[in-house]
Amino acid sequence: MSDRPIIRVQHIVKSFGTVMAVNDVSFEVRPGEIFACLGPNGAGKTTIIKMLTTLLRPTTGALELDGLDVTTHRTEVRKRFSKIEA
Ligand SMILES: Nc1ncnc2c1ncn2[C@@H]1O[C@H](COP(=O)(O)OP(=O)(O)O)[C@@H](O)[C@H]1O
Ligand SMILES: [Mg+2]
Repeated sequence: MSDRPIIRVQHIVKSFGTVMAVNDVSFEVRPGEIFACLGPNGAGKTTIIKMLTTLLRPTTGALELDGLDVTTHRTEVRKRFSKIEA
């Protein structure tokens, strides 16, 4: 298993007005690793996935997929997690 993370999430925060949906979440996933994101309804799971898949921008924090900044390389990132040409 490679040491280089395929997903890197660093201190991401996402707020919708006064609602804090994701509050300072960090994690790394390496190729081949099975990673579960668990939490009760409203914990912020869907918001994290939407940020990782370019559908939402984080308020603050950094997201990388395969070494690419998710917020500045949206098309390249989309190609990495989909077999469909973006
Ligand atoms: N577009 C939105 N506008 C306002 N609040 C939102 C929006 N999306 C999610 N939220 C709020 O952010 C929090 C996290 O939601 P969500 O990521 O859907 O949690 P989960 O997927 O873990 O159930 C909840 O309080 C939810 O109501
Ligand atoms: Mg959800």
